Amino acid sequence: MKKISKVVSLLGLLFILISGTIDLDDLFNYESQNIPSYITKDNTPESNQINNQITTLGRVLFYDKNLSENNTVACASCHQQAFAFSDPLVSSVGLNEGTTGRHSMRLVNSRFSNEEKFFWDERAASLEDQVTQPIKDHLEMGFSGTNGDPDFNDLITKLSAIEYYQTLFEFAYGNTTINEDKIQRALAQFVRSIQSFDSKFDVGLSEQPNLNAPFSNFTPQENLGKQLFLNPPPNGGAGCAGCHAPPEFDIDPNTLNNGVIGVIGSTTDIDLTNTRSPSLRDLVNPDGSLNGPLMHDGSMTSLLQVIDHYNNIPNNSANTNLDNRLQRPGNQTQQLNLTSNQKNALVDFLKTLTGSAIYTNEIWSDPFDDQGNISIVGDQLSSNEFIFDKSIAVFPNPVTTDLTIQIETGSYRVTIYSLLGNMMIDKEISGTKRMNLQSLAKGVYILKIQDLDSNNFFNKKFIKH
Ligand code: HEC
Ligand code: HEC
Repeated sequence: MKKISKVVSLLGLLFILISGTIDLDDLFNYESQNIPSYITKDNTPESNQINNQITTLGRVLFYDKNLSENNTVACASCHQQAFAFSDPLVSSVGLNEGTTGRHSMRLVNSRFSNEEKFFWDERAASLEDQVTQPIKDHLEMGFSGTNGDPDFNDLITKLSAIEYYQTLFEFAYGNTTINEDKIQRALAQFVRSIQSFDSKFDVGLSEQPNLNAPFSNFTPQENLGKQLFLNPPPNGGAGCAGCHAPPEFDIDPNTLNNGVIGVIGSTTDIDLTNTRSPSLRDLVNPDGSLNGPLMHDGSMTSLLQVIDHYNNIPNNSANTNLDNRLQRPGNQTQQLNLTSNQKNALVDFLKTLTGSAIYTNEIWSDPFDDQGNISIVGDQLSSNEFIFDKSIAVFPNPVTTDLTIQIETGSYRVTIYSLLGNMMIDKEISGTKRMNLQSLAKGVYILKIQDLDSNNFFNKKFIKH
């Protein structure tokens, strides 16, 4: 008895502390953000256009630690808004102190690229394919189904028992069923919604549509850097645009590696597979400091180091996958012979690609409060309460032995979950039913009744004495 009153007061406390709020009547605008007319690349599939309802669900999923096996890691743990959705650490910390084998990638303008594959080594065929892979990674979020981990179906069961997901999936997709496809679509929409087009470069380009002409808002150094970035090496340029083409600064889908072949934590291993880069926008914060170390191995900690690398590509015979744009006849590698003034100009130019809104705009911010709670409000929600259009009574609560579900004749599926998302009871009923719950341990449970004719759900929390 004492134990139970503790649980009840804890729930009460949680309720009072709720301040993270999603207002379903006043969604953020993700679907018609302003995209400059000079931006033409777009990897959004026809079947997953951004929509405010689904992207709102994606935002909650992105920040939800419930997506990890032990509730400690969210996507946002390794993709932090304050760092352009990357991580200042070389190697991100996942579950149980495990760390990632490559550096986390900025998620800025992921949508605006010709390249449709994702990850440094392009192993995900699409963004939709990518977004659930961290969840299934033993070290990242732990629903791998290997090494004694639960699998993705266990995650679906867990999320299905969380009330705000019943609401949000219903709101986004018209029914409460959760599956991998819906999670993928929502997370991919949220990632694609993260866009940054308010940089000094964008101001310059909107005033001077000719990329090759000097921008009037640029310093002479920034204009020099822009020329060096755009022009290929035979004409005295640095050839960056050949692989990171403006104005998106996405990666050429056909590039091989760029001569950075290190492996985090090793001085001898090499990795030749990294042929993708995130957009070169927002490499630095508005305050000019890097958003995180650069390259797949996080081996570069300044922009000057990057320029020095391209100025003098290491000649390593073990690198059999070096892009031929960085090679020269006679087994030589690229030597640009840039002056230190030219190097600084390139650095200054790269800094003009930083925007400001992505670092602070609430539309991409954490929707949970400090205690990890979220509340969903809005009339859309109260209308949801009537979706279960059968009259129903569930009593008593708390229950000691028998729980009665009083409901008109029909066909229903009754499931009872523990608060941790384990399914305890699963049966079909056809009308009023008295269920013996003596075998359930004391605690708080979630009762879910699905009307099998309409697919509507009824949810109720109850306490077992
Ligand atoms: C433990 C840290 C960690 C977590 C958690 C994590 N990521 Fe990542 N993410 C990374 C790392 C590291 C990479 C690069 C890995 C690689 O290429 O091998 C990456 C790459 C990506 C990419 C590819 C970007 C590109 O331009 O190719 C996307 C998209 C992404 N993550 C989204 C997500 C989403 C969505 C989640 C949550 C479901 C998530 N990440 C969870 C660390 C993490
Ligand atoms: C042959 C194609 C190619 C050329 C030319 C090229 N790059 Fe890259 N760049 C890449 C690839 C591939 C990566 C990802 C490499 C990795 O992490 O292993 C990359 C990564 C980067 C990164 C790190 C991005 C991040 O998020 O960590 C920066 C910065 C960069 N390049 C700047 C430049 C500049 C500046 C130039 C011109 C001097 C240039 N690149 C020329 C292909 C190229």
